[in-house]
Amino acid sequence: MLSGSAERKRIRSLGEHLTPSSVFTEFIMPKIEGRIYEYIWIDLFSGEGNLILPILERIPVAERAEFFSRHIYLFDIQEKMVKKSIENAISYGIPEKLAESNILAKDTLDEFPDILRRTANPVFHITNPPYLYIGYIAKQKERPGNIRYFTGENKGLQDLYQIALMNDLRNSISQMIYIIPSNFIFGHSVSNQIRRNLLSSYNIKDAIIFEKRIFENTGTNVAICFFEKTNLESDTIKFTALKINASIRKRIYTLKKDSDYRAGSYFDEYVQKKRKNLLNVNYYLKKEEIDRNTGWIAVTLLNSKEYKGGKYTKRKFFINENLYSKIRSNPVFLRSVDTGSENGKAGLYSIKEVYDADGVYVEGNTYRTNPIQVFIEPRLSEKQMNFVIGNFNKTLNRLREKTDSEFMTTYKYTNNSRYTRKYLGLNQARALLETIVP
Ligand SMILES: C[S@@+](CC[C@H](N)C(=O)[O-])C[C@H]1O[C@@H](n2cnc3c(N)ncnc32)[C@H](O)[C@@H]1O
Repeated sequence: MLSGSAERKRIRSLGEHLTPSSVFTEFIMPKIEGRIYEYIWIDLFSGEGNLILPILERIPVAERAEFFSRHIYLFDIQEKMVKKSIENAISYGIPEKLAESNILAKDTLDEFPDILRRTANPVFHITNPPYLYIGYIAKQKERPGNIRYFTGENKGLQDLYQIALMNDLRNSISQMIYIIPSNFIFGHSVSNQIRRNLLSSYNIKDAIIFEKRIFENTGTNVAICFFEKTNLESDTIKFTALKINASIRKRIYTLKKDSDYRAGSYFDEYVQKKRKNLLNVNYYLKKEEIDRNTGWIAVTLLNSKEYKGGKYTKRKFFINENLYSKIRSNPVFLRSVDTGSENGKAGLYSIKEVYDADGVYVEGNTYRTNPIQVFIEPRLSEKQMNFVIGNFNKTLNRLREKTDSEFMTTYKYTNNSRYTRKYLGLNQARALLETIVP
């Protein structure tokens, strides 16, 4: 028996996050039920078989064994999972011997099963593959061998789920339904290559994007993506998706080849087009700078790393005229993460009004999610600074509304909040400031 932490490590190293059957019944079954007899249904990373075996519920009991033998194949690297899938199949009335012939143990990231190369019907792959970012794999001790998947033709891919997708492309699978991290749709460097490779041969027909937890052991945001092979590479891929968080909404996505088929590229296009480059932006008032500029002027500064009794602590410093003037002309901080309350959205705020302090300092490592004092050159008058703050927040919120905040990173699940908390990158804040003429 593994200890709790060893079990968590094992689960993580194999990307073992089983899909609740309700996800299949609610979101996948309705899309395939008219076509059950047309395909061979496979899951190459099948866990307990939750994404395929429930199809049997639509088949009359007397025909199930026949249907199973011709239409279902499941694979998993773990014997334990294969055993569970076999038991699961038996519970649907499939004879044990037959279940054992179509549910097999295999490392399918390494090699596509031979039996699937010569099937009578086309293959339809429904899966929730292992997810593991290459950066974690490199540090991980449990399965150091995982790194070998990223060599040769897979070089440049960033996550195990991407290897799974590429294997399907190489084996010309015509239809796939994948439950994968939403970064497949929204990510930059983590997913530019896989989108470029995959979407030159596949369309996204549909998607369901979750901004709430659906697995027990991982907080990764996931989406169900419906892929269909196409012979024509297109410059744009357009699809409607359901987005599910506190509410359920329909959204239309247009992915452009020029933007590596990334959703949420509107923000980047906006800042690029409107760029004026008049303001030079720097972040953080560091303790070293205060120490280098001691003097006789008293200031009260917020310690952005010390949070006690529900608020940041403050400290008095004595500084020289030079630093005082710099701090006084930039009495503004960046809130990079939504607090969750209606008036706590990410944006620029007055340090005086929010914290009743003159500035915000940081000692040691900087944290991009804590309040950050922003320094703008050339120095602005109070009126100009107020204009910049107002304009920044107004534009940011307008862009958020237009894109449903998709250019920002989801920060935390907020089951009890009215909106999903998001993080605005420091480079994004800088790029937006560079569009403003004070
Ligand atoms: C995220 S789970 C999903 C299981 C199932 N598809 C579901 O949705 O419930 C991923 C599964 O892939 C299996 N797996 C991990 N690496 C694998 C590999 N190289 N080859 C085959 N299966 C693998 C794990 O054992 C695990 O059961």
